[in-house]
Amino acid sequence: MSSLTPDPCPLTPDSWQKVLRSADLKPGALAKVFVAGKPVLLARLEDGTVAAATAVCPHRGEDLSAGMLYMGAIDCPLHHYLYDLRTGANRYPRNVFPADLAVDVRPLPLFPVQEADGWILVGRMKDEG
Ligand code: FES
Repeated sequence: MSSLTPDPCPLTPDSWQKVLRSADLKPGALAKVFVAGKPVLLARLEDGTVAAATAVCPHRGEDLSAGMLYMGAIDCPLHHYLYDLRTGANRYPRNVFPADLAVDVRPLPLFPVQEADGWILVGRMKDEG
């Protein structure tokens, strides 16, 4: 039986890349940065936590940095799929789809992220170049 909630950031990064000054990401704000050439969405959630995820919507590839932050989730601007930024789980439409359709709704891949010395750092894996 598969879980509806993916394991958040199951990977341990090999290195950390400074991507943005902490002061440049205010509560409720989004930013797009690049890590190993891949677009990464940064979001400062309502409680001040920073989340990092792929900026490419798993549904049809829309740029999630043009979306809206909503209660700890990113709302994709194209079809309004809603992904939890703490877990990567799809909150909508997976929870309203019939079971046979819901299994095809993919979660949002997350990146390890931390803040240190006034910077936001995103974790990189060896195979990311
Ligand atoms: S491309 Fe994001 S919801 Fe369809």
